[in-house]
Amino acid sequence: MRRKLIAGNWKMNGLTQDGVALAKGLSDLYRTLTKPSFDMFIAPPFTLLSKVVETAKESGIWVGGQDCSMYDSGAHTGDVSPVMLKDLGCGGVIVGHSERRADHGETNDIVKAKAEAALKAGLGVIICVGETLAEREAGKTLDVVGSQIKGSVPEGAKAGHVVIAYEPVWAIGTGKTPTTDDVQEVHAFMRQKLAGLLGEETAQQMQLLYGGSVKPSNAKELLSLPDVDGALVGGASLKVDDFWAIASTQLSA
Ligand code: 13P
Repeated sequence: MRRKLIAGNWKMNGLTQDGVALAKGLSDLYRTLTKPSFDMFIAPPFTLLSKVVETAKESGIWVGGQDCSMYDSGAHTGDVSPVMLKDLGCGGVIVGHSERRADHGETNDIVKAKAEAALKAGLGVIICVGETLAEREAGKTLDVVGSQIKGSVPEGAKAGHVVIAYEPVWAIGTGKTPTTDDVQEVHAFMRQKLAGLLGEETAQQMQLLYGGSVKPSNAKELLSLPDVDGALVGGASLKVDDFWAIASTQLSA
């Protein structure tokens, strides 16, 4: 049985007061669960990481970065290494988000190198993949997702250390989502692809998240699909009530 993971990517949002209040609100709620049936991960901007790690301490919520360098240290102005994230108390990091791929020209090779560096530093890694609207309309979704997985996932990746998030670029922040049939089709395909790369057992255990306009009203339906093991949430992760409403769909699951 794969555990569900409810992950929040705050992106470039939040100043100290709001960010700490959000982390505190979620920590207080998550703490009330004696035996949580799902895991929770939040990725604030780098500027808030230290405070959010402190606020969420001992709540059981997993805190991490939205990106990291492929290097451990050195002359890389503006970058943050996975070793630094680990040192700060982070448990994980997101790599290969489509906004990084698009805004910073991150290729599969770069994403894979970042994932390898993060694993080496002892962090859990969420690797993002997903097609653009043009790719979907051209019928290339599975080809694109398949080659992103092949190119971005480190050899020998293990379940429990690596999570894959399917985020169709056209569904991010748009309010649009693929049909549940389409989401399930891509997730089943990803699992099959991972089985070819990492073996059947690892593929069966690896958590596959869906991301792109997940909100309280569609979370239950998306999260009940057989190969969807959680959600990577952007906009709706910025409010305690919305994010908790999404997570709460898993309370009686
Ligand atoms: P939205 O939930 O705002 O569509 O963002 C999804 C996302 O990009 C999470 O990483």
